[in-house]
Amino acid sequence: MLYLFTIAAMAAACAAVPNIPSTFKWESSDPLISPKSDGKGLAGVKDPSIVEVDGTYHVFASQAKSSGYNLMYLNFTDFSEAQSATFHYLDQESAIGPGYRAAPQVFYFAPQKLWYLVYQNNNAAYSTNSDIGNPAGWTAPKNFFSGVPSIISQNIGNGYWVDMWVICDSENCYLFSTDDNGHLYRASTSLSSFPSGFSDTVIAMSASNKNSLFEATNVYALGDGSYLLIVEAIGGDGNRYFRSWTSNSLSDTWKELAASESNPFARSNNVVFTGKSWTKSISHGEMIRTNTDQTMTISPCDLRYLYQGMDPSATGNYNSLPWKLALLTQTNSETCS
Ligand SMILES: *[C@@H]1O[C@H](CO)[C@@H](O)[C@H](O)[C@H]1NC(C)=O
Repeated sequence: MLYLFTIAAMAAACAAVPNIPSTFKWESSDPLISPKSDGKGLAGVKDPSIVEVDGTYHVFASQAKSSGYNLMYLNFTDFSEAQSATFHYLDQESAIGPGYRAAPQVFYFAPQKLWYLVYQNNNAAYSTNSDIGNPAGWTAPKNFFSGVPSIISQNIGNGYWVDMWVICDSENCYLFSTDDNGHLYRASTSLSSFPSGFSDTVIAMSASNKNSLFEATNVYALGDGSYLLIVEAIGGDGNRYFRSWTSNSLSDTWKELAASESNPFARSNNVVFTGKSWTKSISHGEMIRTNTDQTMTISPCDLRYLYQGMDPSATGNYNSLPWKLALLTQTNSETCS
């Protein structure tokens, strides 16, 4: 028995791509990125997207103020230096310009050798840049759609169309989004047409309890032909957490992975704080990607997830809440060699 078990364990350890576990455990840092006292009046830093390129972390996030949202950028080589990095406010420093822009996703679209920043502006918008480290290089917003797709208008109820997410396979690009009303949407275009041609918007998943399928979608390729979907939910305790699913195709249905409050992808009950237990919400964020291209490929081991959290005693207008960014590090991972 022991002998057979050892052989099986060795076979698993030698597999090219480790399996994604069905239970997750994390360690959280203290807050690492929060508003500066620089006269810009930010209440919160939210909705981060992060890539690591040649040892530099590039973070794009929403700058939240009582007056509304726009985007910001910073880079650093060590998380201990994140708060002292220069914060670049993209409404003032780039052609992205003022107005409602939020929830960025950054990736490198290899076929065009261009960085894309995808974000919401009441439509789904994008800007491009040839140099991710040059905040002034981002182009003016262009919309992916001529208006809100009719299937979204028909199902959105009192919700909001938010948190656009692009991922491409070898033939097509998909744009996922949510509506704070229990629907995950998916539009598609061909890889060769991107960024044009997004159409055929469908409901990829729905939930009768809108809180269980709320917003902040991430979709990643795991390198073995399978995909990981993460969607933020509102728990029975009112706090934010993440559920997860897998699929073998971006255009197929999703199967629950760690998708409940008792077995969440990331929630206060599977996160251990290394310092202060400073947040009960594990909210909108992104996995650190070292493969930065449009395939959104991550290795399903030693996961690191940059998220937004908040002092549970904070109160007030939603846009004025003091969201800060911190890092989750997976503690039950298979080790990647
Ligand atoms: C980091 O950002 C600064 C601007 O604050 C920029 O000059 C620099 O090139 C960036 N670093 C990299 C590696 O892109």
